Amino acid sequence: MSLKDKIDLSSLPQHIAVIMDGNGRWAKAQGKDRSFGHQEGVVSVRKVVEAATAIGLKYLTIYTFSTENWSRPLEEVRALMDLLVSAIYKETPDLMKNNVRLMAIGNLSQLPEKTRVTLQDCIDQTSANTGTTLVLALSYSSRWELTDAIRQLAEKVNENSLHPEDITELVVSNHLTTRNIPDPDLLIRTGGEKRLSNFLLWQLSYAELYFTDVYWPDFREEELYGAILYYQQRERRFGKTSEQIIYKQ
Ligand code: IPE
Ligand code: IPE
Ligand code: MG
Repeated sequence: MSLKDKIDLSSLPQHIAVIMDGNGRWAKAQGKDRSFGHQEGVVSVRKVVEAATAIGLKYLTIYTFSTENWSRPLEEVRALMDLLVSAIYKETPDLMKNNVRLMAIGNLSQLPEKTRVTLQDCIDQTSANTGTTLVLALSYSSRWELTDAIRQLAEKVNENSLHPEDITELVVSNHLTTRNIPDPDLLIRTGGEKRLSNFLLWQLSYAELYFTDVYWPDFREEELYGAILYYQQRERRFGKTSEQIIYKQ
C-alpha cells in the first residue's frame, strides 16, 4: 500500500515549498561527480511534481538556485544553468500533459540569456494550465527579495503615491516576488541540514517544517507523501490555544 492512500485529500497543504539539498553528497557517496547528483535531482523533481499533481496539490515551490549559489565554482554554475535549459525543454510536454503551470521567482535578470529565454518560453506555454502551479526559485534569496520590496516601497513614498501609514502586511506581501501565491503551509528540506538558507523567510512565518536526512536524488513520490502525512498530524494554532482550535472559537 502506498502512503498516498493514507493522505486525507480534504486537508492537503495548499502550498508546499521544498529546499532540495544533498545532490552533491549523494553523488560523492557513490564516487561520482557532483553534476551526476544534479542530473539525478532533476528526476526527483519530475517524480515529485507528478506526485503533487496526482493528489491535486495547488502550489509547489522548489528552491532551485539561490543568490548565494552564484559563488559556487564557475564550472558547476555553468553546468547547473545548462541542466536547467535541457530539463525545462525536455519536461515542457509533460507539464502540458499534466496541466502544470510553471512560474519563477527570483532575480531572473541575472540568469544567462539562454536559461532565461527557455524558462520564459515554458512559462508562456503553460500559463493557461489550471492544475498544480510549479514555482522555481531561481537566483532567489529572501534578503534580496525583501530589499527589493523595500526599495519599491521607498520609491512610491518618495513620489507620493504611497503614504508610510498605509504600508500594511498585505502591502509588503504584494511587493514580494511571491505576490498572488499563497504562503507555504509546509516546508520540506532534504539532505539533513536544519536551516532555511535565505529561503522565503517572510512567507514561511507559519509553515510546518519537515526536515529529512534523505538526499534529494532519493526523495521521490513516497517521501513526498510521508511529508504530507507528517503535516496532517500537526495542529496549526497560529498563536491561539489548542482549545480554541478544537472548539473553533
Ligand atoms: C542542492 O544540492 C542543489 C543546489 C543547491 C543547486 P547541493 O548541490 O547543495 O548538494 P550538497 O548539499 O552539496 O550535497
Ligand atoms: C540551498 O542549498 C539552496 C538550494 C537548494 C537551491 P545550499 O546547499 O546552497 O544551502 P547551504 O549553503 O548548505 O545552506
Ligand atoms: Mg547543499
